[in-house]
Amino acid sequence: MKIFNKVAVGCDHAAYEQKQKLLAHLREQGYEVKDCGCDSSESCHYPIFAHRLCTSIQNGESEVGILICGTGIGMSIAANKHKGIRAAACSEAFSAELTRQHNDANVLCLGARVIDYDKIQSLTELFLTTEFMGGKHATRVGMIADIENGTFSE
Ligand code: RB5
Repeated sequence: MKIFNKVAVGCDHAAYEQKQKLLAHLREQGYEVKDCGCDSSESCHYPIFAHRLCTSIQNGESEVGILICGTGIGMSIAANKHKGIRAAACSEAFSAELTRQHNDANVLCLGARVIDYDKIQSLTELFLTTEFMGGKHATRVGMIADIENGTFSE
């Protein structure tokens, strides 16, 4: 079941083709999709696109995002520097599902040099349809926010 409508998608040169396919697929599925770039397979700097996508979540234009680079790691490091962003780099279904259920992740980071397009699409679908479980997990996510805000204490 669909739980998000507004999805942002971004990539760097390592994943341009995959991002274009994923955009078309998500639009076909009825999602309102924001394309945060990049716009070709020419070498570019992934933090630019992570920043665009995270800003669109922070300002409410997008609810969640999918970032794809070579490994998913650079994108996740850059995304997690943004307040309110919980980005997870995943390459298999268990983690993609659990990061929604337990971490309320709002950005999924994928590696186009790690997994094939079919896996990119299936992990994206799983991420976009899995609910946060709340409860004790909400307490923990709140603690992460406190760390971010400098108000955390044990
Ligand atoms: C680009 O060559 C590569 O470094 C980038 O796509 C990504 O894997 C960084 O984490």
